[in-house]
Amino acid sequence: MTESKKTPPPLSPTRDHQVGLPARRAAVTLLDAVLWKKQPLDDVLGRSRDKGVMFDLPVRDRALARAIVGMSLRRRGQIDHVLNHFLERGLPKKAGSLYAILLSGAAQLLFMNVPPHAAIDLAVRLAQWDPKAKRYDKLVNAVLRRVSEKGEAIAASLDAARVNTPDWLWERLVRSWGEERAHAIATSHLVEPPLDLTVKSDPTVWAERLAGRILPSGSVRLLSKGRIDELPGFDSGAWWVQDAAASLPAQLLGDVAGKRVADLCAAPGGKTAQLASAGASVMAVDISQRRLRMLTENLARLGLEATTVAADAADWSPEMRFDAILLDAPCTATGTIRRHPDIPYLKSAKDIEDLAALQARLLDNAARLLKPGGRLVYATCSLEPEEGEAQIAALLARNPDLALEPILPEEVFGQTDWVPSSGCLRTLPCQLKLDGPEWSGLDGFFVGRLVRRNSSTQAR
Ligand SMILES: C[S@@+](CC[C@H](N)C(=O)[O-])C[C@H]1O[C@@H](n2cnc3c(N)ncnc32)[C@H](O)[C@@H]1O
Repeated sequence: MTESKKTPPPLSPTRDHQVGLPARRAAVTLLDAVLWKKQPLDDVLGRSRDKGVMFDLPVRDRALARAIVGMSLRRRGQIDHVLNHFLERGLPKKAGSLYAILLSGAAQLLFMNVPPHAAIDLAVRLAQWDPKAKRYDKLVNAVLRRVSEKGEAIAASLDAARVNTPDWLWERLVRSWGEERAHAIATSHLVEPPLDLTVKSDPTVWAERLAGRILPSGSVRLLSKGRIDELPGFDSGAWWVQDAAASLPAQLLGDVAGKRVADLCAAPGGKTAQLASAGASVMAVDISQRRLRMLTENLARLGLEATTVAADAADWSPEMRFDAILLDAPCTATGTIRRHPDIPYLKSAKDIEDLAALQARLLDNAARLLKPGGRLVYATCSLEPEEGEAQIAALLARNPDLALEPILPEEVFGQTDWVPSSGCLRTLPCQLKLDGPEWSGLDGFFVGRLVRRNSSTQAR
């Protein structure tokens, strides 16, 4: 095995289980916030690091808390099945964090090789600390003991891809992609994805320095699980984190050097950085001031520049028109479940309807802002056709001035399976098979490319 393919040593969740208590407590708090308060995990993590449960945790414990939460969400269906088997009278109501304690305890026992005495003892202590859960401390002890003795066989007897996918999502995946591909997509959600970087230049040099490998897109892929800001090249702004699929929309705008480009829905700026790095004069628009600040910080680290505008891109109406527009619209993000295992529990079929309506408004405005002869690239990281193919078909029907510019296999490095007959790009998380699941996959993205016909009347 070459150095670049070495799997990093697994997290050693606990040697001294007393030491592991704050990490477990953080994991339970984070799970409660995601599952009951429906807060996105990244937001909760950000807040908890600034002033919450992660604030004074050592880096190692933070990583452990994150790993427990990730595993609990990825394997929630299997774990629930096992827990239900041993909870003879079901889960007691009004029991505070009891469910999160059981879920995270079982995740450690079944999928993280944590020694039973540590996982069970710490779970019991967490229950004793919670005024609403404390009367169930003996139940926690009894259930997790049985999980540690008999749970693995029960979990292994289940179809992991199916049971770890909530029904609403499974039904949609099967309807859109057929049962076999739905199964492959759901299987890819079980594995923590690798880390992809977009490098400003010299991918070969950076792949070697970071013990990574170069992907067809030019991205550098690593198995690193450590702190991103401690990797070589972070401080000097040599690269930024961006999934290989997420790097495709900006590439598909073509040569943007010297062109005036609008990046609509731009923050935190991965695609803005690509466009600026390729020599475009970029106007980066986002509705969120907070996220625009992140974009500005990211560009500063990379030594790149763009003009930022805080506005609703659905009715933003500057005087100027653009040579090229990238619209990376807000979406359900169901193509990124490998990276965000909370999504299946935060989103629903209703969100697809609401977001599709917003995407149509954003597309209409983007079309208005395009110069004759200009290019528009529309992207979403969603697996839902309503947020992809259907949007482009409807936009073309509403705008006779626009024409589809088909994306060709040679523009995506000959990956013919990324370019179906629609002429648009469609990646699925189960694609890009490399050496083993830990190296494989990419985010599920949709990209449609359009041009405004030259003969059209000048846009408003
Ligand atoms: C998928 S993210 C964009 C990711 C970004 N393009 C990148 O590559 O880093 C979607 C962004 O859309 C922004 N957004 C949502 N609704 C918007 C609207 N109506 N107008 C402008 N931006 C919006 C969100 O704040 C969010 O930053």
